[in-house]
Amino acid sequence: MALVIAIPAWAARPYRGGAVATAHPMASEAALRMLDKGGNAVDAAVAAAFTLAVVGPYHSGLGGGGFALVHDAKTGTTQVLDFREVAPKGATRDMYVKDGKVVPGLSTDGATSVAVPGAVAGYLELLEKHGKLPRAVVLQPAIEAATKGFWVSPKYQQIATLRRDCLRQDPEASRIFLAKNDQGEPDVPPIGYLVRQPELARTLQTLAKSGPKPFYSGPLAQAMVDTVKAGGGLLTLEDLAAFKTRAHEPLEGSYRGYRILTMPPPSAGGLAVLQVLGAMERLRPKGLDYRNPEDLHLYVEAVRRVYVDRVKYLGDPAFVKIPMESLTSSGYIADLAGGIDPKKATPSASLLPPMEGANDSTLKKPGTWYDSPAAPGQTPAQPPSPEKKNTTHISVIDKDGGAVALTTTVNYAFGSCVVAKGTGVLLNDQMDDFAARPGVPNAYGLVTGEANSIAPGKVPLSSMSPTLVFSRDDPKKVMLAVGSPGGSTIPTTVIQVISNIVDAGMDVSRAVGAGRLHHQYLPDELWVDRWGLEPATQAALEAKGHKIRRQETWGDAEAVYSDPKTNLRYPASDPRNEGAGLGQN
Ligand code: DON
Repeated sequence: MALVIAIPAWAARPYRGGAVATAHPMASEAALRMLDKGGNAVDAAVAAAFTLAVVGPYHSGLGGGGFALVHDAKTGTTQVLDFREVAPKGATRDMYVKDGKVVPGLSTDGATSVAVPGAVAGYLELLEKHGKLPRAVVLQPAIEAATKGFWVSPKYQQIATLRRDCLRQDPEASRIFLAKNDQGEPDVPPIGYLVRQPELARTLQTLAKSGPKPFYSGPLAQAMVDTVKAGGGLLTLEDLAAFKTRAHEPLEGSYRGYRILTMPPPSAGGLAVLQVLGAMERLRPKGLDYRNPEDLHLYVEAVRRVYVDRVKYLGDPAFVKIPMESLTSSGYIADLAGGIDPKKATPSASLLPPMEGANDSTLKKPGTWYDSPAAPGQTPAQPPSPEKKNTTHISVIDKDGGAVALTTTVNYAFGSCVVAKGTGVLLNDQMDDFAARPGVPNAYGLVTGEANSIAPGKVPLSSMSPTLVFSRDDPKKVMLAVGSPGGSTIPTTVIQVISNIVDAGMDVSRAVGAGRLHHQYLPDELWVDRWGLEPATQAALEAKGHKIRRQETWGDAEAVYSDPKTNLRYPASDPRNEGAGLGQN
């Protein structure tokens, strides 16, 4: 049995000043520019967020929403800002159901899937409240990226291929994000093609000059409403004018003496992170033995159970009463851990019978990990499947110890595929995160319950889990900022990065790169990524009754580790993707 190991911080590049990790080098460079100008972690994170809105249109943007944890090193306090989209006033519980069935595509593609965007309000509020630099300075890198363009990379191609048909439905989106092929049809652009977004540059300039107002009640608002209305969607000027960000208390817990702050509801992610880590600590008080099948089994069983809680209890806390105190109490965690059979997998259906419609396959999207066929036997991993890179995470720790963990999204790849005419603003399809019919899986194969049914003004339940882990010696000093995209897999990615550092003693680069395992109650399968397991370990888990599904890869963890002893910072961008970790020397 492994002992809890002292955390090493080698094998990654150290920086003496601030450091940042994001999913795109241009966004990390934008953040670094702010740090070099004397900006703090918030200036850096907001510059990165606006730049990602330009260079990563498939995962986030002005038409999306998200969550941020902001740690102020001076006061030692951490604040949470929730700027996730809300359902328009005209939304109804059964708006995506016809003749008792969920209509495929209605909540993921086109104007009918658009929720009221929150990203602009959120990013600018973060800057206004916690930043040091002027708005025009912080938005400058994004404006430059939109004007000069960014080049199409293999990832861009992969994701645009997944959404080509959807993008083709919208003339504006096709013009901006696709390029004419030899037959003159809009198609996935070749590698190296420059995506320039002059309309988006103008929109960003407007925001730099005037703040969020034009977006929520001015000409930009009008353009969004006109476009969505023309496509049969519900967004109104009243919805935009009424949009408000929400402040929450961070969800607090600990793992083996390390204090953890994470995202409360309307994310289901933070709760899952704390519950699973709590159960692991209880079941293995001396630490987890890396890739020991006995320990992996316990981890999977804990995860399975917390995803059941998600179905039963979680939704927008402004609409449903969530028994948070009980769900995070040590008695509850003890019961959860105590219910696990160390010898064999518990069938998910015995914990909570699947609701009617759970096997409704009409919403499955071809080519996604949920829909990809199970590989027979153990090896090899499936051929690359286009993963949904449609959320992104930014981690920053500045030279003074201020930190931001910010996860932001337009939901599915390229959101709704609808661009508000003349603005360059790509709109989200966040409505798909509601339970279109409680019990019926969404685009991530994820089942949620009645608590997450659609209602006007309600926030759809999220998995996004921006998280801060603090030094054991000083619980006010951030040691790790971390988060990831990956829909339903986000919480397990965050859990595994933390455990890889705390239990396995990995440096942060290795911790974000290591293979991953995921379960989510339904489908009752253990997902294993390309580097997740060796055959012998997999066989040991199968012998316990786990049905294994090999997947290509998922997630894109972006993390910054700050060594509590040396104060050196180590950024790490997931090697599965095209991001970059940068820092100040
Ligand atoms: O908020 C959520 O949980 C989803 N809208 C996130 C989507 C996502 O991460 C997909 N990424 N690959």
